[in-house]
Amino acid sequence: MNICFVGTGYVGLVSGVLFSDFGNTVYCVDNDKKKISNLEKGIIPIYEPGLEELVIRNFNSKRLIFTTDINEAIKKSDIIFIAVGTPPSKDGNSADLSSVFSVAKTISNNLNKHKIIITKSTVPLGTGDEIEKILSKKNKKNLFDVVSNPEFLREGEAIRDFKYPDRVVIGTNNVNKVTPIMTKLYEPIIKKGGKFIVVKRRAAELIKYAANAFLATKITFINEIANLCEKSDINVEDVAIGIGTDARIGSRFLRAGPAYGGSCFPKDTKALVKTAEKYNVNLNVVKSVIHSNDARSNLIANKILKIIKKPKGKKIGFLGVTFKANTDDMRDSSCLSIIPKLINKKCKINYYDPTGRKDIFEKNKSILFYNNIDSVIKNSDLVVIHTEWDEFKSLQFDKFRKKEKIIIFDLRNLYHPDDFINKKIKYFSIGRPQNV
Ligand code: UGA
Repeated sequence: MNICFVGTGYVGLVSGVLFSDFGNTVYCVDNDKKKISNLEKGIIPIYEPGLEELVIRNFNSKRLIFTTDINEAIKKSDIIFIAVGTPPSKDGNSADLSSVFSVAKTISNNLNKHKIIITKSTVPLGTGDEIEKILSKKNKKNLFDVVSNPEFLREGEAIRDFKYPDRVVIGTNNVNKVTPIMTKLYEPIIKKGGKFIVVKRRAAELIKYAANAFLATKITFINEIANLCEKSDINVEDVAIGIGTDARIGSRFLRAGPAYGGSCFPKDTKALVKTAEKYNVNLNVVKSVIHSNDARSNLIANKILKIIKKPKGKKIGFLGVTFKANTDDMRDSSCLSIIPKLINKKCKINYYDPTGRKDIFEKNKSILFYNNIDSVIKNSDLVVIHTEWDEFKSLQFDKFRKKEKIIIFDLRNLYHPDDFINKKIKYFSIGRPQNV
């Protein structure tokens, strides 16, 4: 099949490359000329393990075409994915759909044969209806089908998540025509056991938000249980195992830690509440999750201040600053709320991140980047393990500063308190006994 992805951001690039890897001809379109010429040279704009070699391989085999010529790419394709950004709108609570609608207009001008137009970007309930209206202005209804096919990829795990998804969700109001085409497109995944779910288009749009809100709820729930564990001499991991083995609950996304972040959960939970308000529905649970998560960074910052006692001039070393491991993404990373609170109390921040120095910290004189873990540990009064990168998991803390005490605050529970018994190391973690 000939497929066009409009938007070579995270979703568009990963999905486009993998569809070409299945043998389709894929046009990846972007209006950013530099990005397109870089991609042609094998320079990837995002950090995603395994992506670079897939891009190079499929580009060389000529199944993957990078282009800025959106009109031509649309004309040549049977299926067009809209994968442009839907950033938070000015009020911060809903999604800005201007790019999605602008692409819809361009598609409308280039409908030379029947095409399936798919929203892959996360779009609010009813967006497919709006796209359909735009296309109907110029084109006969039998010339297009607007479908919702939300993605459930996690940054850092995107290739595996694409190839082996729990399910593929297709939202269409024209089941008979669309289902065979979408089944063919996803055949390699369905054959490997991925569930294929066909629902109405609006249902698919809501599934995406409901899934993210539910996962955010699960994390927030275990984070609150962790707070209780700390006060009641219980290990939160025991509780997570105890409840997670109940198949009705499930063990994944029960890792207590700092506040959840990233480009999805914070934005999507707020957008869902906003959408529900339009329908006069009060999503109290999701509102509480947002509130609890916002409060969590304050709680963690206060714990840090309690551990170091006298904050003025103290050096706090962060290992990892992105919102989670295996990504270079800083969006809504919990440290962006924690660090300013510490600086406010006159702390100095050292940090190391496997994905390098971060622009967002560059102009701040209180924040210093080190290009190795050892220097951060050596030069800090407290080491905060902020993300769960593999390279932070087996550190030999003993070798640092042999005489002085090392204090560690492990926000991801990568270590166990027993690891530090009889060592000159003070260890704090999340949701375990003997915490601050
Ligand atoms: C999330 C969803 O997991 C994907 O299914 C979805 O496709 C994506 O959003 C999206 O909407 O595009 P992502 O934001 O990449 O993926 O990251 P997650 O792995 O879900 O982690 C989100 C946040 O939750 C991170 O801050 C992570 O550290 C935190 N988290 C996750 C926990 O604190 N505990 C957990 O057990 C799991």
